[in-house]
Amino acid sequence: MSLPSSLTLGIHILMAMLLAGGGLAALFSGGATISVLPRRSAIIGIALLIITGANNFISRMGTGVPKGYHMWFGIKFLLALHILAMTVIVSGPQHTPEKRARLLKGVGASAIAVVLISVYLNFLVTGAH
Ligand code: HEM
Repeated sequence: MSLPSSLTLGIHILMAMLLAGGGLAALFSGGATISVLPRRSAIIGIALLIITGANNFISRMGTGVPKGYHMWFGIKFLLALHILAMTVIVSGPQHTPEKRARLLKGVGASAIAVVLISVYLNFLVTGAH
């Protein structure tokens, strides 16, 4: 992997931490920790996550990918969209703490699935031969 690609991946992972961190905290505290990003930070994080993710994807397409990569990428993308939508929705002013905790726990559960799928995508390209 070249240095620019590694840096892009680093920014991607950092933005994923920023956006999904509150969800994981809510999930592992049983809903006791409610940490909500301001909408402006969430939107900047989402933009950077999508730009770096698209860059990762395009560079993978350039080298060719094994069977199954597109299917797992599609599943990851849909779950990621769920996380991103929830991150914006939860930042709205109208929610009770109970509802915020519920939405954030959903973000945490999806984030675990998305990271596991991302690791599998990496394995498909780098380790399965
Ligand atoms: C909150 C949502 C997301 C999380 C938690 C997340 C997490 C990650 C992580 C941890 C990796 C590194 C995997 C590894 O190298 O072992 C990764 C790679 C990647 N991500 Fe994301 N990501 C998210 C959203 C997205 C989006 C929206 C896109 C597409 C626009 C995307 C496209 C990719 C691609 C193509 C890779 C490289 C996979 C490979 O090694 O072939 N991700 N992601």
